[in-house]
Amino acid sequence: MKIITVEASRKYHIMIERGLLSDCGNIVSGLVKKPCRIMLVSDTNVYPLYGEKAVASLTNKGFDVNTYIFPAGESSKNVTTLAGLWEELAEKHFTRSDMIVALGGGVVGDLAGFAAATFLRSIQYIQIPTSLLAMVDSSVGGKTAIDLKGGKNLAGSFYQPSAVICDPDTLQTLPREIYSDGMAEVIKYGMINKPELLQILKGTYDDADVIEICVCAKRDIVNEDEKDLGVRQFLNFGHTLAHGIERASDYKIPHGRAVAVGMVLITKAAIKAGLCTEDALQILEELLVKNNLPLWTDITAQELCDAALNDKKRKGDYITVVLPTGVGKSTLQKISIFQLNELIKGVWTE
Ligand code: GLY
Repeated sequence: MKIITVEASRKYHIMIERGLLSDCGNIVSGLVKKPCRIMLVSDTNVYPLYGEKAVASLTNKGFDVNTYIFPAGESSKNVTTLAGLWEELAEKHFTRSDMIVALGGGVVGDLAGFAAATFLRSIQYIQIPTSLLAMVDSSVGGKTAIDLKGGKNLAGSFYQPSAVICDPDTLQTLPREIYSDGMAEVIKYGMINKPELLQILKGTYDDADVIEICVCAKRDIVNEDEKDLGVRQFLNFGHTLAHGIERASDYKIPHGRAVAVGMVLITKAAIKAGLCTEDALQILEELLVKNNLPLWTDITAQELCDAALNDKKRKGDYITVVLPTGVGKSTLQKISIFQLNELIKGVWTE
């Protein structure tokens, strides 16, 4: 088993191994004092596939397991679903010695984590990510949130899980386009500062190895900057424009696809500004195409500029963007909203 340790405001292990889901009861048993009740949070896609296995493993180890299953999809990551979970926890008399287990992709993990951060002013939670995107990104580092009408992840907190149990076998049932979505985040790590990952991605590889590389990269960043004040912002490569694309498409374009386009646009802008070498765009586009990810969007420059104004990373009239400088190299740059608009429009008028 691969074990990667995060040392942020809480120290915890990320465990990666095929078949680990069947052993989750054993792992949770080693982490908590009993009696401990569990609220397993999942969605209508994931629970029918893996819920029974997780519940059986937990109950075999003596846990009293309750479930909260909500409709799959980003549109469920809202205050109504969250309030439903709070009420369920209260109705079932959950206490501070009980815990939440999040079984699913990013939506499940973010929402369950936020419920854990806030119910009784915080109870423990464990992440069991079942999508590639959740395995390499959202389950690690303690960002929890729900979406508001005004935008994605606008209400949330930094709250670290007690463990992350990652079973790459669960990727076998992931629809190809959702797997591709996660690959956008994998490619992102390579573009930020891992040229060797970009080389690996060009060939054939084992998912578990790539997940480990990404998780180690994220672990290093979170250990240094848990609260997103410095180096963690590198993880936003392509994301300012991606959030704009998602918002302008009314969330019809999924996150990974939007990140793919966001990375291409900002790389083109960096090349145009003389800050980045052409080969960075070449390898980025090659890997995105290999993974069936898009390079362009029909959304207009103006729509994207308007949506970018709502980015939660904006501070007054300024925003920090990640600009690639070459293959596997990037830099953080604070620019004005006016400059960001100029960068976006510049790419459209090529
Ligand atoms: N998903 C970006 C971060 O965790 O900071």
